Amino acid sequence: MPIKLKSDDEIAILREAGRIVANTLAQIREMVRPGLNLLEIEKFVREEFKRVGAKETFLNYSPGPKYPPYPSNICISVNEQLVHGIPVDRELQEGDIVTFDLGATYRGYVGDAAITVGVGKVSPLAQRLMDVTEASLWAGIRAARPGSHLNDVRGAIEDTIRPSGFGIVKGYGGHGVGRDMHEEPHVENFRQRFRGPELRPGLVIALEPMVTAGGPEVGEGPDGWTVTTKDGSLCCHFEHTIAIRPGGEAEVLTLP
Ligand code: MF3
Ligand code: CO
Repeated sequence: MPIKLKSDDEIAILREAGRIVANTLAQIREMVRPGLNLLEIEKFVREEFKRVGAKETFLNYSPGPKYPPYPSNICISVNEQLVHGIPVDRELQEGDIVTFDLGATYRGYVGDAAITVGVGKVSPLAQRLMDVTEASLWAGIRAARPGSHLNDVRGAIEDTIRPSGFGIVKGYGGHGVGRDMHEEPHVENFRQRFRGPELRPGLVIALEPMVTAGGPEVGEGPDGWTVTTKDGSLCCHFEHTIAIRPGGEAEVLTLP
């Protein structure tokens, strides 16, 4: 499947979709406290989407026949859960780190972003893990310029994580974004041997580093969705949707 470059008009809508995601995530960040039930967050997202006229992107999403349709509007992944955690009747506890991964569809276009937030006071390890993961996302964003190649972005993310000794998860990563949540190209968070496609103005991609405090091995849980670290170590995930623009730095579409 070829990469679909977006026109300025399409990017304008993608910007609105991205802003809805970012504003919703910003409000969720404010809600986070010990005792908050994950189902309250799911409910908040449903109401917020209704209020702003966004359609759910994640609900009933299925990447293939082996997956049951995703049952929620948001992925909430706690501690050793990396991505695709399903909101359940569970209360956040002091010291947890929790990832909120949210997609919204607005006027037919998708915004996709994720943040990891500490609940109350977190351990120094958890804080360092979050700092390194977020820094690697921004390094990838800075490397995403017209004329660069995808491998430059992958390498910038990898080089930011490596010195920490943390694990870089393989098999999950970023992706093109447009009318579909998952378009070409797929963006792993480490260098490959080839330069990969050139980054051209109009390319819209989600970058999403996934980092573990222990080994990098992960597996899917019995619900068919929740991805956890094999060794039970803490893990972290940040994501922004960005657009390659002529000239300079990429535009981050998922800012509040
Ligand atoms: N935001 C996630 C991604 O980038 C997707 C969520 S999977 C879903 O791949 F099922 F929840 F949609
Ligand atoms: Co994504």
